[in-house]
Amino acid sequence: MAATEHGTYIHQVFGHQDAVLTAIMPRAVAAGLPAISVAPEVGRLLQLLATLARGERPGVVVEVGTLGGYSAIWLARGLGGGGKVVTIEADPRHAAFAAAEFKAAGVADRVEQVVAKGLEALPALAKRLGPASIDMLFLDAIKVEYAAYLAAAEPMLRDGSLVVADNALGTGSWWVTDAADPAHPQAADRAAMDTFNRKMATDPRYITTCIPMGHGVLVARRVGIKETRA
Ligand code: SAH
Ligand code: DHB
Ligand code: MG
Repeated sequence: MAATEHGTYIHQVFGHQDAVLTAIMPRAVAAGLPAISVAPEVGRLLQLLATLARGERPGVVVEVGTLGGYSAIWLARGLGGGGKVVTIEADPRHAAFAAAEFKAAGVADRVEQVVAKGLEALPALAKRLGPASIDMLFLDAIKVEYAAYLAAAEPMLRDGSLVVADNALGTGSWWVTDAADPAHPQAADRAAMDTFNRKMATDPRYITTCIPMGHGVLVARRVGIKETRA
């Protein structure tokens, strides 16, 4: 798989952003953070999905993988008054950088940061927030851990909530459609993402698809008891 003409078009037409968002990743890279945020068109998709997931509710979104706060700010802009993004980050330097960005973007009151590994933070968060407490889960940290993040977060998902995962189709180093190559340094990531996609595609508790934007965005809706899927 390669970047497509349609992908370029979507980036040009739907990848616009304001000065606050434009400034974040250049500043992050200058501070030594890796340039691996979602693309602007994916950021807008996250904002859109957060608005759809919350409906008329204020909205509670949990993100795993804060980096410089870029995606969390898009998510925060999809919330209503009183809503919040809880964003989990293992690297304290990334979290500290993001904290300043949340202040600069004017969303610090709507963002709660948890500085811990996703697999440690999620069970505690599930206890604290309680069952059926969140509208959307966004996964963007360690690829081989996505399935475990989802398992730990599952009690927090209400019927109708969304599970969204970045890198469903790849990263800057691999595509999920690449031939399996055990010598590739990210072979385990590619295989894990393929397995995660296929499991979500057929899990009767979700209606799932993949949007081929950026590096691919898996979108799954937790199916309610009154709904059915084909
Ligand atoms: N969502 C961000 C990009 C995240 S990049 C954006 O689009 O702006 C992935 C991030 O996950 C990095 O900051 C990395 O430090 C963090 N990370 C790595 N291992 C982690 C773990 N076990 N738990 C939580 N975050 C982790
Ligand atoms: C890369 C991209 C990502 O979106 C991510 O979450 C991690 C790594 C990359 O291009 O290497
Ligand atoms: Mg990503």
